[in-house]
Amino acid sequence: MLGHAVAGAFLEVGHAVAGCGTRDRQVLALPGEIRYERYAFESWDPEAIARLIGDAEVVIQLAAYTRVDQAEAEPLLAHRTNALFAQAVARACEITGADLLYVSTDYVFDGRAGRSYREWDATAPASVYGQSKLAGELAVRRIPRHYIVRTSWLFGEHGPNFVATILKAGREQPELKVVNDQFGSPTYTGDLARAIARLVTTRRYGVYHLTNRGITTWFDFACEIFRQKGVATPVLPRSTADAGRPAPRPPYSVLENWAWQVAGEELLPAWEDALGRYLVRSLR
Ligand SMILES: NC(=O)c1ccc[n+]([C@@H]2O[C@H](COP(=O)([O-])OP(=O)(O)OC[C@H]3O[C@@H](n4cnc5c(N)ncnc54)[C@H](OP(=O)(O)O)[C@@H]3O)[C@@H](O)[C@H]2O)c1
Repeated sequence: MLGHAVAGAFLEVGHAVAGCGTRDRQVLALPGEIRYERYAFESWDPEAIARLIGDAEVVIQLAAYTRVDQAEAEPLLAHRTNALFAQAVARACEITGADLLYVSTDYVFDGRAGRSYREWDATAPASVYGQSKLAGELAVRRIPRHYIVRTSWLFGEHGPNFVATILKAGREQPELKVVNDQFGSPTYTGDLARAIARLVTTRRYGVYHLTNRGITTWFDFACEIFRQKGVATPVLPRSTADAGRPAPRPPYSVLENWAWQVAGEELLPAWEDALGRYLVRSLR
């Protein structure tokens, strides 16, 4: 999902983009030429990855094990993709001299601080997914020319996401129950991708929190989706405990975009505005 938006954002500002992944063929439906290489990431040989990177200036590492609940039962697989592979990519970037940007998550925090997190706050992931992403961060930090971008609650074109799921459920079910005791910042992949394309031109390496502006719960997010789309299906609040998901969720994982502001960059738009633009685009 994010890969699609990131490729689009780089093409938009005139960069050549090459994608690589597990598929047999290019899956990005974007105007402009994108070189595509099939690559089995399970063979984490830095030399082979370095050959793939070639003379690329920047590597954006988005491939990840993203099934948060399933990761609790598959910790080795999650760590292999999110940490060991990140380590190999970091080593490969060291070989070729490319800058590396690793996308990470609010789940590296346990969300129990009761306030928003700045980039240097102590991490304490509660879930296997969060632990594996933190291990990936640590691997990437070993090379000097890295960016780590932590983001949260992504929605966007070309991927299953909360907005699409809730709209489908709203069509199919008489009423919905949505968790109202987790707080975060929904983030549109298009806005994040443009910020990423901007960030890598700055050469100001380090950790950045990048999310759309504003704080909400999944419940209020769902209500706003229905409000903007004119869906009348009732939405009822439920607790995280009642939802009974295998992986623990951070109750308050708002990421303050502090480093981005300090660098003099403009904050990303409010999430309600981002949602509106996504809904218009996804109707086309
Ligand atoms: N979604 C969110 O809410 C969220 C929030 C915070 C951070 N993030 C981070 O943002 C990044 C992008 O997330 P996303 O939502 O765009 O995820 P996504 O749609 O699930 O994309 C992940 C991609 O990784 C690929 N992949 C997984 N395992 C692989 C492997 N072993 N070898 C090669 N490719 C592999 C998948 O390819 P296949 O489809 O071919 O398997 C998929 O295209 C991830 O690093 C994620 O941790 C996401």
